[in-house]
Amino acid sequence: MIWSKIENLLCDKTGFDGNIIGTRKIIKAVENRCLICGVNADDYLQILYTSREEFNELVELLVVPETWFFRDHQTYEAFTKYIRFQWMSKSPTSKLRLLSVPCSTGEEPYSLVMTLLDLGLLPNQFHIDAVDISKRALSKARKAIYGRNSFRGSNLEFQNRYFTSTDTGYQLCEKVKNAVNWSQGNLLEANFLVDRSLYDIIFCRNVLIYFDNYGRKNTLKNLHRLLKTQGLLFVGASETGELSNLDFEVIRLNGVFVGQKKAAVVKTQKNTSVKGYVISQSQTLSDNYPINQPKVTAISDNMQTVKPVQHLQNGHLESIRNSADQGNLTVAISQCQNFIYQNSTSAEAYLLLGEIYQAQGVESRAEECFQKAIYLDPKNSQALLHLILLKEQQGDYEKVKILRQRWQRLQK
Ligand SMILES: C[S@@+](CC[C@H](N)C(=O)[O-])C[C@H]1O[C@@H](n2cnc3c(N)ncnc32)[C@H](O)[C@@H]1O
Repeated sequence: MIWSKIENLLCDKTGFDGNIIGTRKIIKAVENRCLICGVNADDYLQILYTSREEFNELVELLVVPETWFFRDHQTYEAFTKYIRFQWMSKSPTSKLRLLSVPCSTGEEPYSLVMTLLDLGLLPNQFHIDAVDISKRALSKARKAIYGRNSFRGSNLEFQNRYFTSTDTGYQLCEKVKNAVNWSQGNLLEANFLVDRSLYDIIFCRNVLIYFDNYGRKNTLKNLHRLLKTQGLLFVGASETGELSNLDFEVIRLNGVFVGQKKAAVVKTQKNTSVKGYVISQSQTLSDNYPINQPKVTAISDNMQTVKPVQHLQNGHLESIRNSADQGNLTVAISQCQNFIYQNSTSAEAYLLLGEIYQAQGVESRAEECFQKAIYLDPKNSQALLHLILLKEQQGDYEKVKILRQRWQRLQK
């Protein structure tokens, strides 16, 4: 009983699939930590609830940091061709923003840097963030000294150009080393990298296979939020099946399958665009809601059935919405706030601001805005629906029930 409680907590927080990690491995790791902490398993569970530090110590014993330079050559070839033939001609002056998560001990983000330098890009023409849940892996990544295991395959000519052989291993040169920004993070957390600007390309390879459904879904949701519209998501070769389950279009790019974030604009109708999700006005909340799937429809280019979102009151709000649809969320937020400053009773402006915050993953602010929109316009069913969904995600079913009754009254 106590073991399954610990396993459930661990898997809920990290996304791990207990069947894949293995119950025996989890038990062994917990026993190991109990010994170090000098407590029994019951007390250890209580520690896990309150101490993030101890939780991370346990995670360290269970992660699989296996990685190497230019792992899966085909992916790097596809990436190289994309940058050379599409990115460099399309966006020659903009700074390329990349995210490598999980980056493990650094081989993946450093391989990306070497690729970009080999393509002739200067370090100030790109920005690479690298994130992993494991502090130990990150600390190794920062040192950038590697053993033989990190160099696999036959094409290792990059080793001579970028590394120096030392007594402790192969030391990576400063130019590559300094081009990566490291941080610790958990792919599953709702506010994962919430303060970062959006990325052009995300590498998230060889981790989804360790996750259960819940973990995969939440990870992809976060990555979707972090990508610019039309941005690309590279996953591991055996992980592409996951992409089509969310709002990614699976495209074949120079021989490999990648996910592309669909344009968040409904092109079939005028004035109907919204970032992220559209709630159809014609949809009804069924009696057994919230047990049913949330009544949210993901936007897709070819979706003909999406109904118009509430019409915007004027051109200014529409242009802010367009700005958000282009992925300029921070700019859109500040434009929206300025608009509200001058039109403090506009429920539509609060609704839009809430939607943008939601697209950014800042749910507390989104909630405040939807509340305000409803306060200003008690018949604003769009804001009400957003709020119902937020509350449903938070598991606040009492509130959901009240809001749902209110929503149903509005439909009469
Ligand atoms: C097999 S490595 C993959 C490294 C690299 N992407 C590659 O393809 O070679 C898996 C990494 O996932 C990290 N990881 C596991 N769960 C995670 C989570 N919830 N959030 C962030 N990183 C996680 C582990 O620490 C480990 O370093």
